[in-house]
Amino acid sequence: MPPNLSLILFFFFLNLSALTFSTVSAVGFNWGTAASHPLSPFKVVQLLNSNNITKVKLLDPNPLVLQALSGSTVQLTIGIPNPMLKLLNSSRKAAESWVHDNVTRYLSGGTGGVRIEYIAVGDEPFLQSYGDEYYPYVMGAVANIQAAITKVNLESRIKVVVPCSYDAFLSESGLPSKGHFRPELNKTMIQLLTFLTTHRSPFFASISPFLSFLQNKNISLDFALFKETARPHDDSRRTYKNSFELIYDTLVASLSKIGFLTVDIVVDQVGWPTDGAGNANSSTAETFMKGLLDYLHSRSGSPLRPRRPPLETYILSLLDEDQRNISTGPFERHWGVFTFDGQAKYHLNFGQGTKNLVNAQNVEYLSPKWCVLNNNKDLSNASASALEACSVADCTALAPGASCSNIGWPGNISYAFNSYYQQNDQRPESCDFQGLALITTIDPSNNYCRFPVQIRTSNSQSLDASFLLKAISLSAVFWLSQIVYFQ
Ligand SMILES: *[C@@H]1O[C@H](CO)[C@@H](O)[C@H](O)[C@H]1NC(C)=O
Ligand SMILES: *[C@@H]1O[C@H](CO)[C@@H](O)[C@H](O)[C@H]1NC(C)=O
Ligand SMILES: *[C@@H]1O[C@H](CO)[C@@H](O)[C@H](O)[C@H]1NC(C)=O
Ligand SMILES: *[C@@H]1O[C@H](CO)[C@@H](O)[C@H](O)[C@H]1NC(C)=O
Ligand SMILES: *[C@@H]1O[C@H](CO)[C@@H](O)[C@H](O)[C@H]1NC(C)=O
Ligand SMILES: *[C@@H]1O[C@H](CO)[C@@H](O)[C@H](O)[C@H]1NC(C)=O
Ligand SMILES: *[C@@H]1O[C@H](CO)[C@@H](O)[C@H](O)[C@H]1NC(C)=O
Ligand SMILES: *[C@@H]1O[C@H](CO)[C@@H](O)[C@H](O)[C@H]1NC(C)=O
Ligand SMILES: *[C@@H]1O[C@H](CO)[C@@H](O)[C@H](O)[C@H]1NC(C)=O
Repeated sequence: MPPNLSLILFFFFLNLSALTFSTVSAVGFNWGTAASHPLSPFKVVQLLNSNNITKVKLLDPNPLVLQALSGSTVQLTIGIPNPMLKLLNSSRKAAESWVHDNVTRYLSGGTGGVRIEYIAVGDEPFLQSYGDEYYPYVMGAVANIQAAITKVNLESRIKVVVPCSYDAFLSESGLPSKGHFRPELNKTMIQLLTFLTTHRSPFFASISPFLSFLQNKNISLDFALFKETARPHDDSRRTYKNSFELIYDTLVASLSKIGFLTVDIVVDQVGWPTDGAGNANSSTAETFMKGLLDYLHSRSGSPLRPRRPPLETYILSLLDEDQRNISTGPFERHWGVFTFDGQAKYHLNFGQGTKNLVNAQNVEYLSPKWCVLNNNKDLSNASASALEACSVADCTALAPGASCSNIGWPGNISYAFNSYYQQNDQRPESCDFQGLALITTIDPSNNYCRFPVQIRTSNSQSLDASFLLKAISLSAVFWLSQIVYFQ
């Protein structure tokens, strides 16, 4: 071989490897809609555009959201809700209709349609708290959805994936190299990984340094927040400098253990909440996010996967959602980088041209009015009324360690009344509480505890007064969980 040809080949391969290692590790956002007063999807799409957000993961194919995204260049992952898995496992016809109604229909249109990259089968169907309610149906549903995609010739455009929860893999000793999947998931995981590698699709997994910090005494706050001063964790000769890479390698080891050493990983949920628990505030979240983004942009990867950071990473989450399930904790409603009304909670430069986050524009609010406790009344029944309000309203800011946990009694009663009143679009009858409440135009908020005024939505006028009835008839589980938070 002439020397210059080998030189050319050498540079060719050098370039090739440089290419594979320097592809940008894309950052996207989870956009959930479990809010009592969701920001209009059109305003959210503006928010995405003004912040150069190019990738979004949706938990379900919400038609209003998909319409708002039509014509945009945002690349989408759309999720299939867990309750559909059973049907999709047993019926290929159902899978074809799902794909037709929720995918094909939106791909083209006057404005160019939406760009769907991934279909995520299930919403973390392997969560341990679900037991075997969903995971036995996952692979059947995956096969039927894939067949439906292939039938309409979309198999080269859209990949079928499954979002894996943070608790599907673990390491009892805390050592990443000892990571493994929960034993009952072994078979499903092997089938899933075989499917994904056949279709050259990535493995989607959630990584939660926040939950790991809450649940594991060995993880310090500094280690979870990517602080350089944190004490590293060693695993024989490998050194871990932050919680994220430790959990990431626990996953890498779990995948290797069942024979899949090289599959690409997409981190489909990672974030830090700003309320609802101690150590969850804007300042810790900002530190976490900055650490995460610096880590991803450095492209250094982890000890088990040097220079191979996640293919893509989806931040949890875009906006706060006041109706998210709080069985894991009150912080679940405060993952947003933006508040429920699209205002940035902290500075963040996620490296896609954006210097500072841009807020949602022209948000329309209800009137500047609040519902508070009338101190001139006999307050002996006030706490019971507040608990009742909290069973439907959002009182997660009153949880221990949260932003309003220090306002004490009776301020916390007012907080509960106001949350209920706002969720009911400030209808006068929702600020009664057996005569204990009154409406005020004086903002009861203080520096650290905010009494929010809700967004005006299209149904603001059309709801009726059936909320109190709902409040009373709510499930015991919800009641109990609230009582636990207020001790
Ligand atoms: C999934 O569907 C297949 C085909 O209908 C069926 O044989 C199988 O039992 C289903 N799986 C479960 C867990 O029900
Ligand atoms: C489209 O998706 C939604 C949400 O998963 C579901 O309720 C609906 O039934 C789907 N359409 C079809 C035809 O399956
Ligand atoms: C916590 O640290 C101790 C001492 O370093 C170690 O023995 C133990 O396995 C660790 N546990 C977890 C769950 O990380
Ligand atoms: C799961 O797979 C691992 C690795 O192959 C094996 O060591 C373990 O025994 C399996 N567990 C079950 C319950 O099959
Ligand atoms: C946020 O949490 C950190 C860690 O607990 C704490 O040091 C800090 O004072 C908190 N900041 C605010 C503004 O509450
Ligand atoms: C919240 O999630 C838990 C655990 O997954 C579940 O048992 C409960 O029914 C859910 N609550 C609501 C209101 O959906
Ligand atoms: C979005 O990206 C473009 C091109 O990289 C850049 O010119 C623009 O300033 C960015 N927008 C924001 C808000 O940073
Ligand atoms: C408190 O509630 C009890 C039971 O509903 C009721 O009998 C009592 O009159 C109430 N007290 C006041 C001051 O409203
Ligand atoms: C309000 O604070 C009091 C005293 O700390 C407490 O007993 C009560 O449960 C709280 N109520 C609510 C709704 O948070």
